[in-house]
Order: sequence, then C-alpha cells, then structure tokens
Amino acid sequence: MTRVEKILFGGDYNPEQWPEDVWDQDMALFEEARVDTLTVNVFAWATLQPDEHTYDFAVLDRILEKLAAAGKTVCLATSTAAHPAWMARAYPDVTRVDFDGRRHVFGQRHNSCPNSPAYRRLSVELARRIAERYGAADHPASDIIAAWHVNNEFGGTCYCEHCATAFRVWLRERYGTLDALNEAWNTAFWSHTFYAWEEVVPANALSEHWGGPNVSAFQGTTLDYLRFNSDSLLRNFIDEKAAIREFSPDVPVTTNFMGMYRPLDYFRWAPHLDFVSWDNYPPDMQSHARMALTHDLMRGLKGGQPFWLMEQTPSQTSSRPFNPVKRPGVMRLWSYQAVAHGADAVLFFQMRQSRGASEKEHGAVITHAGRSDTRVFREVAGLGEELEALAGEIVGARTRAKVAFVFDWDSWWAVEISDGPSRHVSYQQTLIAYYRALYERNVAVDVVPTGADLSGYDVVVAPLLHVIKGDLAARVEAFVEGGGTFVTSFLSGRVDESDNAFGMDAPGPLARVLGIRIDETDALAPEDLNAVVFDGGAVRFAANLVFDLVQPGTAEVVGVYESDFYAGTAAVTRNVVVGGGSGDAWYVGTNLDAGGLGWLFDRVLGDRGLLNAYSGLPGVEAVTRHRDGVAYLFLLNHGEEEADVVADTDGVSLLTGTPVRAGERLTLAPKDVLILRSATGQ
Ligand code: GLA
Ligand code: ZN
Repeated sequence: MTRVEKILFGGDYNPEQWPEDVWDQDMALFEEARVDTLTVNVFAWATLQPDEHTYDFAVLDRILEKLAAAGKTVCLATSTAAHPAWMARAYPDVTRVDFDGRRHVFGQRHNSCPNSPAYRRLSVELARRIAERYGAADHPASDIIAAWHVNNEFGGTCYCEHCATAFRVWLRERYGTLDALNEAWNTAFWSHTFYAWEEVVPANALSEHWGGPNVSAFQGTTLDYLRFNSDSLLRNFIDEKAAIREFSPDVPVTTNFMGMYRPLDYFRWAPHLDFVSWDNYPPDMQSHARMALTHDLMRGLKGGQPFWLMEQTPSQTSSRPFNPVKRPGVMRLWSYQAVAHGADAVLFFQMRQSRGASEKEHGAVITHAGRSDTRVFREVAGLGEELEALAGEIVGARTRAKVAFVFDWDSWWAVEISDGPSRHVSYQQTLIAYYRALYERNVAVDVVPTGADLSGYDVVVAPLLHVIKGDLAARVEAFVEGGGTFVTSFLSGRVDESDNAFGMDAPGPLARVLGIRIDETDALAPEDLNAVVFDGGAVRFAANLVFDLVQPGTAEVVGVYESDFYAGTAAVTRNVVVGGGSGDAWYVGTNLDAGGLGWLFDRVLGDRGLLNAYSGLPGVEAVTRHRDGVAYLFLLNHGEEEADVVADTDGVSLLTGTPVRAGERLTLAPKDVLILRSATGQ
C-alpha cells in the first residue's frame, strides 16, 4: 500500500475488551481525531487461544476487517505478554519465581518465565500463526500492517530452576571453563570456588543477596545474572521475530521499550529490532530534560534512526499514588518534543478507556462515555489535524550532534550494586543532571554506547563510566589526542567487565588521559555538603555524596574543595593532551549541583564553540532535525510564561505558514510549539 509520508498518529486499541456495538462509534471518532494507526492485539492471548489445541481468530479478523475498511494502518502485536489461565494450570512452571524464591501462580501480566519450555514453545507458535494468517501477501490485512509489535514492554526477572539451568548454559558460553568463571567472579573470596557448573545458582535473596536486589555479596555473579536475564528476554523476542519472518519477510518488527529501564540492556537488544519504539510515562510534570535524554537514548540505540513513540497517555496514568492530568497544551507539547528528538510516530495508550480492572481510570482518547467534546479529545483531534497538515515534512529527518553522551547499562548496574563507597549514587539521576546542563544550553546530543565510534564528535560526556570494557580507554585516549574534549565523573574507571578492580591507581585505565590519580574517595550522608570553588574563589557550588581526593599529575586544577581536611585540594581537573590535535580530558570528582554543572558546561561548550543562539533560554527547548537540505527547528516552551526567542535563520513557521526572518523576535505562549523550517543546502 502506498502511504502518505506523515507522522503516524493513533495508539493502542483493544476493542476485544468492550462490546462490539461500540466499534463503529470508535471508527467515527478515529476519523474525527485524524487517527491513522492503531496498535491492536496486545493482550488477547486468551481470546486467540482458548485452550492448548484451539486457535480462534474470529474476533481479530473482525477487528482488522473493520480497520481495513476504515482505511487505517495497524501495528499488529503478538499478544504474548500475558499468558492465559489454562496455560498456568497445565504448565505451572510457566509462571515466574521471584527474587525471594516464591513461585507465582496465575495473575497480572509480564508473568511468564522467559526460559519456560512451555512459554517458549507456545508464544512462538502464537506469533507464527498470527503472522501466517495476516502476514501472507494474499491476506487483505497484510496490506495494512505497518509494523509487528512483539510482546509488550518486556521486563522483570525470573529465578526459577529453568532459569538456573539456562544461566549455567549462558555462563559456559561466556567463560568456557569453570576456572575462567572462578577468576571472573573472584571466588577465592569467601571460599566460593565452584567445582561443577551445577553448583552455580541464580543471584537472589536465597543466595548472594542479603539486602534486596542491589545488595549482593558477589557483584560479578549479580552482574552476570542481570546480563543473562536481559538476554533471556531478548531471546524470546528473537524467537518470535523469526517466526514472524517465516511469513512476513519485509514488514518491520519492533517491541515497545520503556526508556531508561534498568533491567534490560537495550543496546544489546536494539540490533535485533528493525526500529525502536518506546513508551513515555515520565514520573512527574517537571521531567522535560529527562524525557529529552530518554528520547535521545532511544534514538541512539539504533545509531540515530528515527523511532516511534509507541505509547503516552493523552491525559493521566492510573498506576501512581496520584495521577495528575496533563494541563492544556502539555500533551501536544510533549508529542512535539518526541518528534523533535526523532519520533516518526505519536501514539497513545489508549484509544478507548478500559471498562474495568487496573486501567479503568487511565487516560484515553475516548472516555467511557464515548464523547468527542471532552478537552482531551479536542486536544488530540487538534494535534491530529496538525500532523496531517505536516504530511510530507519531518519524517525520516536526522539529528546532527557534536556532543556524544555515553550511556552504559553495565556501569548502571555495577555502580548501583557496589558495596561502597556510597549507596546513594543513582546512575539515572546523575546522568540526568549532566544531560540537563547540556539540555539547558540547547546543544544537540547523541546518546551512544561505550562501543561507539567517537571520532565524529567534538565533546564526549561520560558520567559514572564505572566499568571500562575492551579497548574503551584506548579509544578515549585516541579521541582526546585527536583534539576531542572528554568529560567524566567520580566513580568512573573503577572496575572491569566482571566488576573487579584494576591493579592500578584509580581511575584505572582512564587515569593517564585524565592526568590524575585518586588514592581515597570520601563518601558522606547526602545532607553533608561540601562545595567546589572555581576561579580562585569567584564562584562556589555545592557538592555531596562522593568526594574523590584527586591528585593532579599532568592535569591542571580547575576547582577545589571548600572544606574538610581536603579543603583546597583538587575536585575538578582538566588535562590538556597534545597529540594529532589538542584535546582535553575533564574529571569531576564529586557530585556537583546543577549550578556547578552549568558553570562547567558553559566553559566546556564555550571552549568548543558549541554554545548557540538558543543556549540558556529559560524554559525553551530548541531541537533540530535535518533532511534533504532542510532543517526543522522545534522551539518548545515548557515554561509557564510567554517566551521571546530571536530567530537565527530565515524560514517558515510550519504550523502557521508564516514566513520568518533571521533576527525576528518570535513569541511563544506557555506550552506552545513553533517549528521553523529553513533551507540549509546540506
Ligand atoms: C504500559 C503498557 C500498557 C499500559 C500502559 C498504562 O506502557 O504497555 O499496556 O498498561 O502502560 O500506562
Ligand atoms: Zn524462570
């Protein structure tokens, strides 16, 4: 089918959960809201397979027929994220064993053990039959399938006997010999030597953990169990995708990610997805920087390829203790924020509100009453109209960034399961804090994995780069020698891939490029503040949690501690490295507050000429996507006040059709969006 190139608009649609006589009403409301794409069949396993030997596609047939007749596109899911009750009865080992060792019974969703033979066989068979039925070229529905949606929000962990067995197989593949395993896990400690693979057990409350999932006696074991669990769920995805591919060779396959979701290493997943999609449910209304970082991470998973915003609520969630509605304009603003950072689809959870169970109060485009004259519906329809008018624009456009921001699940896991120096360091919060400093300066950022080619960037920011794997340190050195600027923080360069310390000064293999040495790291209660003083006392910013006692070698001292026995000694350093170019490597030895990070990045970005006309506009985010010699600049006013922005280029304001001249003052109402299209010639 030929589709108009436009940003897809719609969302999760679960009509099997309500009476069929409202389906026609749904279709009419979709028209009214300019909805073109529906994600269907996400949680319908019980309907599709009422018992092990019966498959029944009658309801799904009717749903797809109706959507096809209405001219809609679908994202067709495989329904494998919640197993049916008969399966849990017939195969009790299909349910998970939790961290405390409790075998679960039927209930909830995302409840299947990824290594259960019954789940693996039956989930893949269901995906195969769905693909066989609807993916075949001669089926009328095959024409409307824009994408396959495997499972839903893969996640969680299982610790059952099947998982224990699979863990041993995974370890054998990774280490080859028990000697190598014993070495990696440092099992000489506490007499842990393993003599047979069967002696290895999952890392949970029954074995190494004595204080919850982050408190383990053997970090190496826990780290491998985290990797193994992520790989187990990934294998479920890969198996379903292979089954789909037997019948549907060309339609792209995805699964909806959850942004910064700790249990799954999405960089290991992304190569197996044809495109990334994700569900954006920020924890509060003030998370603009966090959302921007997460969008950039999702785009970065596949090297800059545009992604889909698979879910967001049009108004409120229902799973939190309190669930604020999105204020007028906020749904539209956040939708454009996603597009600005690389989304080519804006989809909601969900189209019509659930009648019962845990999501009956969750926001939806169409409420229980089926009205179209609600505030939420009108705002959705308004956005639908705008996105229709934008047809032919933006889709496929890319981000051009000079700053790379390193995100690493291994470091996330390792730094948070470490015993000492501090249990108060949050990987996510630290990365958000660093990212926010870049975000407030409206500098484009690519989020990259540790294995990325750094050479195309001017600045690489890598907070909490705790784990140093492979040739990473050598590549950082080459980057700085080539003229790049590298910025890293406390607790970086501390351990290898197995969470063992390097037999050298901290920060290990990064010490040389940073030109420093750390002998001691102080760690205090979060409320015990110190400060870092810059410019010989001209400015000072608060710092807490972790305080590296930095001994500068070749590095110059940029900021010093204000108090304690290490007052006056180095807290922030910069090492100039002359190689093929003249680069520098910055070390921030403590948890600097937002003002301190802002000061630092004004300097780092200023030195590299990366501050721009939109840097430091309070509340206004400026993001650009590029395509075919055209730049789309998105100006997003997250603030509560009207904002004035001076255009830095000629162009046209796409949503109003008004021409804009460079130097012109543009006024953005609170929560408003302006898309400025300009010609760049490249
Ligand atoms: C997730 C799920 C959806 C729904 C929403 C509610 O993102 O994928 O099925 O439960 O949350 O916010
Ligand atoms: Zn299991």
